[in-house]
Amino acid sequence: MLRRTRTTKKLAKRIDLQYFAHPHPFRSWRFWLSVAVPLLATAWFITQRAQGGQKAYSSGQLSHAHAVFTQQCALCHVTQAGAFTAHVTDKACLACHDAPLHHANQTFTPECATCHVEHKGAMLLQATTDAACTQCHAQLRTRDGQSHYVANITSFENKHPEFAPLRSGQADASGVRLNHYVHLQPNLMGPNNTRVQMTCDDCHRAAGGGNWPYGAEMRPVAVNDANPGRPHGKAYMPVPEFAKHCAACHTLQFDKRFGNEQVPHDKPEVVHAFLMKRFVEYIAAHPAAVHEVETPDRQLPERVRLPRVARNAAEWIQFRVDDAEWLLYAKTCKQCHTLTPASGPLPEVAKSNLTARWLAHAEFDHHAHRMMSCTACHIRTPDSRETADVLLPGIQTCQECHRENKPTEAAEGRCFECHQYHDWTKAKPTKGGFTIQQLRGDAKTPVPSG
Ligand code: HEC
Ligand code: HEC
Ligand code: HEC
Ligand code: HEC
Ligand code: HEC
Ligand code: HEC
Ligand code: HEC
Ligand code: HEC
Ligand code: HEC
Ligand code: HEC
Repeated sequence: MLRRTRTTKKLAKRIDLQYFAHPHPFRSWRFWLSVAVPLLATAWFITQRAQGGQKAYSSGQLSHAHAVFTQQCALCHVTQAGAFTAHVTDKACLACHDAPLHHANQTFTPECATCHVEHKGAMLLQATTDAACTQCHAQLRTRDGQSHYVANITSFENKHPEFAPLRSGQADASGVRLNHYVHLQPNLMGPNNTRVQMTCDDCHRAAGGGNWPYGAEMRPVAVNDANPGRPHGKAYMPVPEFAKHCAACHTLQFDKRFGNEQVPHDKPEVVHAFLMKRFVEYIAAHPAAVHEVETPDRQLPERVRLPRVARNAAEWIQFRVDDAEWLLYAKTCKQCHTLTPASGPLPEVAKSNLTARWLAHAEFDHHAHRMMSCTACHIRTPDSRETADVLLPGIQTCQECHRENKPTEAAEGRCFECHQYHDWTKAKPTKGGFTIQQLRGDAKTPVPSG
């Protein structure tokens, strides 16, 4: 029987005592790696520095608007004694663009970077989180100790109040009357005894272009510029105007002698001067008319009086102007306006007071909603018979689409979609002081001048 003697010594002989001296593919790979990585890193770093860039420290891609400054970290991260600071000061941001305070009544001012987060990729910096707002608005404190607005808003779907003009008791204070129901009836009497069906955009259009079908002379209108500050000027509807939207149907004739001639749509003093002029011209051309007997105007039954015979041209003019003004102020103008007796002989026309912007504390944009019918939001308009009716949609209509839960299936529901944070009316122009090099590379420390 063969016996194998396995002593530890024999076993030890089988081990190559010089194993570490021989090259081994795996070991050499590890070695070269440990040398190459720092080398490559240093080389890359040096190249980056040589190119004047500081991207090497970066913690993530910059936002879309700031991507162009990727090589110049110091534009935001101001270096102190040559050392990089991760913190960003408001001053650095303000060197490039102004950002006015939110509200004079706020108790503290958060830093820019708490709302505008960087290094999260090519995103919109304006798309701030609700937390940026609810840090104050969930429990609003004010400098003057009073609260002028709802003070516990946590999200658009939760505890956001109904819009102010729709809370109970609010009315449309328009000084010009309009009955929407009457005007939206089929077969409405249009110009020259035609029958028409009016639509919203016969009186309301966010942007001009094309003719107004019921305008004074039906001539093309210039593109409206009633919406300064909006990129496309289509955010709000300009207020209706007599000349563009009413004149073709509501004509301002004053006397049958002048056929279809109308008085100017203007203050009673201007109308008076116009009437004087026209009747003076008439009697000069027709002197015999002084002695004609006027038949009482059946259009105005409430004015019971005997036919007046003028003794001379001056009296004739006075009677005719009187009659014309009675027609206008007891009937024509009165249909749309409230006329109040003034100190003089002529009445005063109440201020039209038409509202172009209802929700002053929020932003709205009709253009973004052009895929919807007008009555999808302004539901009550076709049935509205009173000028005082407020016809705006309530918050529930908006919440059908704008939500922050299930954001992938909704329109944007975070605060910034509808509100501004900065009070841009107080913005100051920025005096740019950087050179291209300072913004793009080369220069190590940007020094804004001015
Ligand atoms: C347009 C301005 C801007 C530029 C340019 C910029 N950063 Fe930032 N960075 C910020 C803001 C804002 C923060 C958040 C700072 C804070 O909380 O105070 C930040 C934070 C950081 C942080 C801290 C970690 C983190 O992600 O919050 C690092 C590291 C950093 N930046 C590196 C860089 C480097 C490296 C560059 C250049 C390649 C650079 N940044 C360029 C605005 C900028
Ligand atoms: C070197 C100049 C510069 C610096 C520094 C700078 N920005 Fe900007 N910022 C710009 C430019 C350029 C734009 C794009 C042009 C524009 O919209 O006016 C822009 C756009 C923005 C926008 C609007 C674009 C968007 O995506 O919503 C915000 C918000 C903004 N910057 C905030 C900041 C904040 C906060 C800081 C400081 C952390 C800062 N910026 C630092 C130049 C700068
Ligand atoms: C509480 C959050 C908050 C703070 C703090 C804040 N912003 Fe804003 N910022 C917003 C919101 C929301 C918007 C978009 C709505 C608007 O324009 O007001 C915005 C818009 C901007 C814009 C874009 C203007 C435009 O439309 O082109 C700039 C630039 C800007 N902010 C810079 C700054 C700077 C600089 C600071 C610091 C001084 C700062 N912001 C502080 C929330 C904030
Ligand atoms: C630092 C605290 C603070 C922050 C952050 C803040 N607000 Fe305000 N906000 C106030 C104060 C204070 C008022 C005025 C309240 C008063 O006078 O009763 C106000 C008023 C308002 C108003 C009504 C008045 C107006 O000017 O239209 C709106 C809307 C509003 N904030 C929206 C926002 C939004 C949206 C954000 C986030 C982007 C935000 N706020 C962030 C403190 C803050
Ligand atoms: C889909 C649009 C929308 C969103 C999202 C939205 N709001 Fe509003 N908010 C409005 C409108 C419209 C008003 C009415 C403004 C008015 O009456 O002038 C309003 C009114 C307000 C008011 C004034 C309240 C008052 O007492 O009259 C404050 C404060 C306010 N919002 C804060 C916020 C905050 C904070 C957020 C985010 C949590 C937010 N809103 C989200 C549309 C929006
Ligand atoms: C004959 C012209 C005319 C037509 C057609 C018309 N409107 Fe108006 N609308 C006006 C006038 C004038 C005002 C201002 C007087 C007032 O406030 O009632 C007004 C005011 C409004 C207002 C704001 C005032 C409020 O009380 O809310 C809304 C909203 C409105 N109209 C929506 C509509 C919609 C939607 C349609 C179509 C279904 C329509 N209008 C059709 C003339 C018209
Ligand atoms: C079909 C309705 C209608 C009739 C009829 C009408 N107006 Fe007007 N009027 C308007 C509208 C709409 C406005 C506001 C927009 C504008 O100026 O066109 C207005 C505005 C005015 C204003 C300016 C009020 C202000 O805000 O200071 C005066 C003055 C005026 N009208 C006088 C008259 C006189 C005088 C008559 C009769 C000769 C008359 N209007 C007939 C619809 C009418
Ligand atoms: C297409 C023709 C047409 C246009 C355009 C038009 N109207 Fe009228 N309007 C009428 C007719 C017809 C009536 C009389 C309806 C009736 O009494 O049945 C009327 C009646 C009115 C009345 C009295 C309504 C009532 O309650 O009985 C007012 C006020 C009025 N219009 C204002 C306006 C104003 C303001 C505009 C311009 C913004 C305007 N209309 C544009 C045709 C028009
Ligand atoms: C998504 C809902 C929505 C739709 C769709 C919509 N509106 Fe509005 N509309 C509003 C809101 C919200 C306001 C209040 C805006 C403000 O003044 O702050 C408004 C205001 C108005 C006003 C008053 C003036 C103004 O601009 O503030 C008129 C007039 C008006 N709308 C007419 C129309 C007409 C005409 C259409 C169809 C072409 C239409 N709207 C479609 C929501 C809507
Ligand atoms: C049928 C769905 C729908 C309804 C209802 C709706 N919206 Fe919108 N809204 C949208 C869409 C889609 C956009 C554009 C995409 C986006 O910004 O998410 C938008 C955009 C907006 C914007 C941003 C516009 C811009 O140009 O920046 C505001 C502000 C807004 N809506 C307010 C409102 C208000 C206030 C109401 C209620 C009166 C309302 N929306 C009702 C779908 C809707």
